[in-house]
Amino acid sequence: MSPASDSIRNSGLVLDALDSGVVILGADHRVQIWNAWMERATDVSKATLMGKSIWEAFPALADSRFSDAIDDALEAGASSVLTHSLHSALLPLHLPDGRPLLHDLMIRPLIAPEGRQCLIQVRDVTVTVERERLLRERRDAKYRAVVDTALDAIVTTDTAGTLQWMNRAAERIFDVTSAEAVGQDIGLLLSLEDRSRWPRGSEALASREASAPPIELIGRGRGGVPLNLELSVAEWRSEDRTFVTGILRDVTERRRARDALEQAVADKTVLLREINHRVKNSLQLVSGLLSLQMAGLGDSPAKPLLRDASDRISAVARVHHRLYQSDKFSTLDFTAFLRELCDDLVQASGDSVCAIRLEADALEVDIDQAAPLGLITNELITNAIKHRALNPALIDVSLRSDPGGFTLTVSDQGPGLVTGFDAAKSKTLGMRIITALTRQIGGTLQIPPTPLGAAFRVTVPR
Ligand SMILES: Nc1ncnc2c1ncn2[C@@H]1O[C@H](COP(=O)(O)OP(=O)(O)OP(=O)(O)O)[C@@H](O)[C@H]1O
Ligand SMILES: [Mg+2]
Repeated sequence: MSPASDSIRNSGLVLDALDSGVVILGADHRVQIWNAWMERATDVSKATLMGKSIWEAFPALADSRFSDAIDDALEAGASSVLTHSLHSALLPLHLPDGRPLLHDLMIRPLIAPEGRQCLIQVRDVTVTVERERLLRERRDAKYRAVVDTALDAIVTTDTAGTLQWMNRAAERIFDVTSAEAVGQDIGLLLSLEDRSRWPRGSEALASREASAPPIELIGRGRGGVPLNLELSVAEWRSEDRTFVTGILRDVTERRRARDALEQAVADKTVLLREINHRVKNSLQLVSGLLSLQMAGLGDSPAKPLLRDASDRISAVARVHHRLYQSDKFSTLDFTAFLRELCDDLVQASGDSVCAIRLEADALEVDIDQAAPLGLITNELITNAIKHRALNPALIDVSLRSDPGGFTLTVSDQGPGLVTGFDAAKSKTLGMRIITALTRQIGGTLQIPPTPLGAAFRVTVPR
């Protein structure tokens, strides 16, 4: 046998040993090579086919994507890859057990000395496709487990807003079955006003930031009952189509509870304001009663005592007055309180008798400290006026606040305190009020030395 026929025989052996199909067609579509793999997969023998047109054996393929690809190779010299995923069941191939053999095809031109030929390679992808299907099923099962047990409604529409799919929670929340809803507009689930707010078209989604808060929508629940919904949306693509998937959280109950809570807070606010108003009125009434009683006392030594008592009650009334004017009830704007107190005390004594210079940082004090601190301040300023001797009272009131606490200082330029003055040992009511209430609010009272007049400093840590 010649070396040439040897090599032909060898290449035939190689082709038959291949684990994929190999076919070579001549320019006239006649079969020139049909390897053993092809014989097994088609049950058509090499002997039957050799030299015959492939369309004789497979007439059904004569007008198919497969025949187009062969024409492209033979006429235009173009190669094609036809994959199973895009072109399933191109050739009638089967596995040894009779099941269909899933395959990819590579069809390319060959330039042989006898003219143009077409090489067809067939690859078995059955196992790969099966594995992919299993993986996909496993992934889909995980996905389905999540969406079907989700408490939130999950719905998918196309970009026109036509419902494509919904989970069980959506069926329950909107009281509609998937079969009824799919194919209808998303408006089926939403109130008339909010139908247009479902994101349709890519622009609506593109303009939304990933961190944007949920869109608040009103939905239509069982029997048309309005539902408060919070919507988070995502856009995704499958092949050449775009879809919108929305997670709709039913917050109707939560919203109702929040509204009830807000109403309760509002009611409490009104109530507290009312109480503070009434307490202030009652205290003013008591203070007024004492003033009335004072008027009937003539020159009695009890008269100034009653006036002091009346003034102290007014000071507490002022705290409640500020509280009912404010929006806050747990703290008091002490700076505003102080300004008002100074103005009132100056007005009550007359400008010629008293001048107060106030320097105050902004300070909110706790409600528990407000009335005691108000009374302490009232006592200190009243003392500076009362014990001024013959000169007008020039009083400096300073309120300094820092993270560690605050300091209130009242100083004057009057005759000053007697040497060795000890507030703690003082038996008079004013000093007893000051020391006791300072202790009550956790503060300390100091009497700093001054070249002129008297100075009192109350320091309260935070
Ligand atoms: N700013 C001050 N300047 C000078 N002396 C003062 C000053 N503050 C207090 N004192 C002295 O300390 C004493 C005690 O003050 P305290 O306020 O306790 O009594 P009061 O003002 O005399 O009477 P009340 O008990 O009605 O307040 C005062 O009588 C006064 O002598
Ligand atoms: Mg006093």
